[in-house]
Amino acid sequence: MPSVIASAPSNIALIKYMGKTEAAGNTPTNVSLSYTLDHLRTTVRITPQSSFRGTVGGKDIWAPLEKSDQVSFSLSEQGQQRFLRHFEMLKQKWGVTQGFLIESANNFPSDCGLASSASSFAALTLAAAQAFQKINPQPWGENLRTLSSLSRQGSGSSCRSLYSPWALWQNEFAEPLVFPYEKLLHQAIIVESSKKEVSSSEAHKLVSQSSLFPGRVARAEKRFEQLKHSLQSQDWRQSFEIVWAEFWDMHALFATSRPPFMYMTAGSVKVLEETLRFWAKNGDGPLITMDAGANVHLLWRPDQKEMAAAQEKYWQDQFRVFSSL
Ligand code: DP6
Repeated sequence: MPSVIASAPSNIALIKYMGKTEAAGNTPTNVSLSYTLDHLRTTVRITPQSSFRGTVGGKDIWAPLEKSDQVSFSLSEQGQQRFLRHFEMLKQKWGVTQGFLIESANNFPSDCGLASSASSFAALTLAAAQAFQKINPQPWGENLRTLSSLSRQGSGSSCRSLYSPWALWQNEFAEPLVFPYEKLLHQAIIVESSKKEVSSSEAHKLVSQSSLFPGRVARAEKRFEQLKHSLQSQDWRQSFEIVWAEFWDMHALFATSRPPFMYMTAGSVKVLEETLRFWAKNGDGPLITMDAGANVHLLWRPDQKEMAAAQEKYWQDQFRVFSSL
């Protein structure tokens, strides 16, 4: 069998997955809703060992994918182990036993603080499914819900990366959702690019210790219903207010956990504060959100392109900006 190659995008949650009822399979405590970031992608290539070693069998090995459009890429020992464990789980599911070379890379730098687990695990799941369907085809092997559920077990947020532009995730797998906003413009303002002290997997465990955690599920569910309605009725301001409150809710969980921890930095607060002032001055602006990190994500409607470009220029003088504009 020759190599197979697959790629998957990252996504940004507007209603956040934070907290798990079961750590093992990444079962979320609450519903989440994301917008897919088609411009931020991971590519994975899978090659059977026999094709590059002349033997059948052997261990799975990870290596960075060298491709002209990819940024140089490295994965910590721990990151590699997690990736290979997910691949092993997929092999067992398909009843595949031979060894593979797994190469992966992002089209964005791995040192910029943008999450890559969503795009990485989704791309790995898609590449594995493509390869294993050739070796030992399964009736469910191309079913998107099944693939989303499998991807979830590698990293929760990756199950939403199988759909574009909107994905809803409640339990086992994510599903596509349709809103009148099909193409949004995305900017990530990189205020901090060093490695996080608390990983998002760790954050999922810690938030259960927050005194604000009771009630979190109800708050997320309520905001999801409200956001669904405001996006459907194209009430942008209302959508902004819900998305704003939602990421603060998650960051309040971090700050009130035991022990408390924080991702926000002075740079994040600067971007938040000024973007809020932008809204007040113009009566319009972007949706603003943050993940388990210091960087700030902005989403603009296509008709706001000029405004977004001007703001981008402004932020570029101070921070790195990754943009789909
Ligand atoms: C803050 O999917 O990275 O980005 O399931 O442990 O791999 P694991 O966690 P992960 O959590 C992402 C959390 C978040 C919010 C979100 O994407 O919904």
